Amino acid sequence: MTTKSTTTRPRNGDAKETEAGQPPAEGTPSASHYKGLDLGTSRIVLATASGDRTRYRTELNAFVSLPYSKMTKAMLERESIHHRANGKEILAFGNRVDEFANILGGDTRRPMQTGVLNPSEPRNLEMLELALTKLCGRAGKNDKICFSVPSATNGSDADVIYHEQSIRTVLENLGFEVHSLNEGLAVVIAELKDHEFTGIGISFGAGMCNVSVSYLGLPVVQFSTTRAGDFIDYSASSVTGETPTTVRMRKESETFKLNGKSHGSSVDQALSVYYRDIIQTITLTLERVLNECRHLPPFKGPVPVIFSGGTAMVEGFHEELREALMRADLPFEILDVRRAKYGMNTTATGALVAAMANT
Ligand SMILES: Nc1ncnc2c1ncn2[C@@H]1O[C@H](COP(=O)(O)OP(=O)(O)O)[C@@H](O)[C@H]1O
Ligand SMILES: [Mg+2]
Repeated sequence: MTTKSTTTRPRNGDAKETEAGQPPAEGTPSASHYKGLDLGTSRIVLATASGDRTRYRTELNAFVSLPYSKMTKAMLERESIHHRANGKEILAFGNRVDEFANILGGDTRRPMQTGVLNPSEPRNLEMLELALTKLCGRAGKNDKICFSVPSATNGSDADVIYHEQSIRTVLENLGFEVHSLNEGLAVVIAELKDHEFTGIGISFGAGMCNVSVSYLGLPVVQFSTTRAGDFIDYSASSVTGETPTTVRMRKESETFKLNGKSHGSSVDQALSVYYRDIIQTITLTLERVLNECRHLPPFKGPVPVIFSGGTAMVEGFHEELREALMRADLPFEILDVRRAKYGMNTTATGALVAAMANT
């Protein structure tokens, strides 16, 4: 089999703490009072305005259960890995848990699925509470946070309401004034200031793709699809017989490309099929919802599209998305299809800008 590659494409979010060159909070004396939180199915990104800079911290949204021993607990403390002792087990959360899952021969557990709290994980909220307490800390006086929420899929918003309310309560208990922001709109807010926040923002994540069509910062149409990164992993695993983890590692490796010329392995071919299905699903859904929309605003000229997210990182994705959207039958012209300059930090940046704007 030729699917294994050990080099992983560099991810913007890999660094535990990074800084952005373009601070949304420049010159704001009380900027450290604001936080933007991207609560994704596979990764959590926290943006904190600090003086004239923005700091980003990323954690994998996953955990493992380890058998309790004083030695294990001491090791987790020494390595600064978030954890909570719980009777005969220790629950460890975040960036390093893939390592433990490998050693123990199991899979990591995930508090979220398809953009919201994972209904089949009994410790879903407990683990998110641990993660958010460690990442965000207790709020000081007047501290504000804005977190990203997905759009409902297929018009059913009951799960999103429960998810949003549960996370809001966790953050309020930490002492924050809490706001929330749609994930697609966060992309627009982070990247389309020069277009007066008018355009289409798309976030291609693990559990979901979120789309927001915005006019002057107001959402015109918002939707999500659950055909995203996890869908690629499970579908390609199912048709090739490889594990989802093997497939995901190949998907994230530098040598996998979506360029239409692949004569690679069956895994590569399966990955290409499902990547293209994601692009097609987004394009067809956008066509349908915009053509059904009865109250389209008077867009003055062609409309820009900005996209972000881990699933969009693969080489060749940009070109295929651009081609599909340019060919789509939409009620207005597309100006261009651009990759977000904040990369994997885009949603957190949009949420941070919104936290500041809500004051
Ligand atoms: N370097 C990469 N190349 C290809 N896919 C990647 C890369 N990094 C992350 N991914 C994929 O992107 C998805 C995670 O993207 P992300 O935007 O963080 O999602 P979410 O916001 O849902 O947590 C996963 O499916 C992951 O496998
Ligand atoms: Mg995300």
